[in-house]
Amino acid sequence: MQTQLLKNTQSDIKTAGAILANGGLVAIPTETVYGLAADALNGKAVARIFEAKGRPMDNPLIVHVASFEDISRFRLVSEIPDVAYALAKRFWPGPLTMIMKKGEAIPDEVSAGLDTVAVRFPSHPVAQAIIRAAGTPLAAPSANLSGSPSPTTAQHVMNDMDGRIDAVLDGGSCEVGVESTVITLVPEVPRVLRPGGVTVEQLSDALGGIDVDDAVLHQLKEGERAASPGMKYKHYAPKANVILLKCTDDEFVRYVNQNAGVGVAALCCDEDLPLLGGVKTLSLGKRGDYDAQAHALFDCLRRVDGYGGVLTVYSRLPQTDGVGLAVYNRLIRAAGFEVIDLA
Ligand code: TXA
Ligand code: MG
Repeated sequence: MQTQLLKNTQSDIKTAGAILANGGLVAIPTETVYGLAADALNGKAVARIFEAKGRPMDNPLIVHVASFEDISRFRLVSEIPDVAYALAKRFWPGPLTMIMKKGEAIPDEVSAGLDTVAVRFPSHPVAQAIIRAAGTPLAAPSANLSGSPSPTTAQHVMNDMDGRIDAVLDGGSCEVGVESTVITLVPEVPRVLRPGGVTVEQLSDALGGIDVDDAVLHQLKEGERAASPGMKYKHYAPKANVILLKCTDDEFVRYVNQNAGVGVAALCCDEDLPLLGGVKTLSLGKRGDYDAQAHALFDCLRRVDGYGGVLTVYSRLPQTDGVGLAVYNRLIRAAGFEVIDLA
């Protein structure tokens, strides 16, 4: 299959909408990461997403809408809980996905057999325009091959998906850089299943009490059931081995320099660059600038593999406040939970 590269123009947005309305697959820009979209109400079209990504069929997809009203208009959920109104008012459109009881329009391919569905109203104007052009809500996981870092540019998507999907619409690089925060509204106390651009602190502030699922910070134990099926898979991993160091800034520099050599890289911050020697360096941005780090993370993880021969990548264990928690959650999975405690 030939994958068309579409641009951010009215006529190409119309083309993308038509491909989607006819059951095709288009990778679309959003404010978080690129999504691989199909008509969410067409089970056959949605099944092609799993095939193109090599995604396990038991991992459900997020349904993207272009307004809050789309949820009832397309009968996506069976009931909208009060908290959904409150969260939408404060955080939509934006990087927040809400899980609710699924409605009759949702095909099994989207919900992967669960009785719930995840819904998101993205803030990216091009994503909104494509949903409107398609005339239907769009199911879209991140547009990477299953297991790879999520794509934050159209080039990342092409690297993984060229020849596997109908089109990619290039809307530039994604602002947030990590996937949306996922919160389930089904339990009595809403529970964060995946941290992202909307922080746990902001959600607590909006709702009072919320829970954070154990799988956000910790590895699931053998046989343990994941509240969010995506959390159980190895994720975001470059081919090189990522190792996280729990340490101070000085210890990080000392350890990396001591272990320097061909085949070693450091995923670090700008302040480390003049202090590190004998290793390839990839900076996530200024120390403490979590937004910059989230924005750069997946691009850096992809670039590691572009440096031929890099076998080991050292990085600091990130902080867990604010957007730092999203960076922590992705990096610890990229590292397969391998942490060396230097204290
Ligand atoms: O920012 C994002 O969320 C991006 C853009 C494209 O919108 N999408 C995205 O989709 O990251 P994906 O499929 O890569 O991640 C969706 C996560 C998975 O971990 C999945 O298991 C979980 O959400 N999920 C989806 N529906 C669910 C449900 N009904 N119950 C529990 N978890 C669900
Ligand atoms: Mg994904």
